Amino acid sequence: MALVDYTAAEKELYEFDDLKIGVKGLVDAGLTHIPRFFIHPLECRGNSSSAPQNNGADGVEIPVIDLEGFNDNDDRRVKMVNAIRYACATWGFFQIVNHGIPVAVMEEMVESIRRFHEQPQEAKMEWYSRDFSRKVNYYSSGDIKGRAKPVPAEWRDTLSCRAADDQWDFDALPELCRSEMREYMKNMIDLQEKLSELMSEALGLNKDHLSSTGYLKSIKLSGHYYPACPEPDLTLGTIKHSDPSLLTLVLQDKSNGLQVLHNDQWVDVPAVEGAFVANIGDFMQLLSNDKFKSVEHRVLATPFGKPRISAVSFFLPCAKDIHKPCGPIKELLSDNSPPIYRITSYAEFMSHYRVVGQIGGRALPHFKL
Ligand code: OGA
Ligand code: NI
Repeated sequence: MALVDYTAAEKELYEFDDLKIGVKGLVDAGLTHIPRFFIHPLECRGNSSSAPQNNGADGVEIPVIDLEGFNDNDDRRVKMVNAIRYACATWGFFQIVNHGIPVAVMEEMVESIRRFHEQPQEAKMEWYSRDFSRKVNYYSSGDIKGRAKPVPAEWRDTLSCRAADDQWDFDALPELCRSEMREYMKNMIDLQEKLSELMSEALGLNKDHLSSTGYLKSIKLSGHYYPACPEPDLTLGTIKHSDPSLLTLVLQDKSNGLQVLHNDQWVDVPAVEGAFVANIGDFMQLLSNDKFKSVEHRVLATPFGKPRISAVSFFLPCAKDIHKPCGPIKELLSDNSPPIYRITSYAEFMSHYRVVGQIGGRALPHFKL
């Protein structure tokens, strides 16, 4: 049974969108009850009993990969590859520590996202747009115009920046975060290259395999801002989804809220100081012929006090390749491991994902043979 009348709620969501004030604008206006277009069905909410939340009592935690000794050609490297294989095959998620990225770079990135979202509303509004062909945009509540159903909306605002083939147009970025993003992206590319080596080896491929394909060459960076919500139990910061990317690297601030669906249980992904969270995306699952798993996750609405901030880097195929036919990596196929997915392209995958992948559905099954 629907809890709210979504047709009327849809109209209200579009009216809110036209105001270009973001979720933060609602909070700043002192609202104490959330508009109905933010209310999620009971079974999807964070406190729903149909998918119990792990409270840590059983000690279930996502794997931690320690990159200390990455360049040493010894036992450590072998252990690292084995740990990555296990993490990607069973959890699709892991924390990364000792990655060598300076804490200052991470902190400044988070602070610059805060600065963007906390600048005066009139200045921020100029960036408000749902035209995703732009290099930069700011918008609320996810991709409400792309997905099959705009409502329910999500309790967050996003600054989204794109670079095709590593070619960042830094001048196009908001000045408030330009230099921080430049520094941050350099470090993200280094980390992506390290992980691509380990993931290639974990698949039994040459260490350069994944990077040489150009599959992870483009980057989309989302600077999410999850304002504290007066009724957090009724809504979500990000609904259940898997990422369409190949690899995603998440930097979260000190707030919790990110959860991953593991063995039908929501497991908290705790904010570990100095760590990154990495996860496998749908297109990597397809290329790896299901050897790596793209796992569903969500973000609870931030309950009170400070907003939650995250910087999420999505690694995607380079622009010139998005229409190129591709399917499961040939080297991974054999009589015992026949292809699970048909040949498609990233563009074709994305056009399907955009509609179903953002309303709680999964895009991958559509591409199964
Ligand atoms: C995403 C996502 C998690 C976060 O942007 O796809 O899952 O912590 N974000 O913001
Ligand atoms: Ni995600």
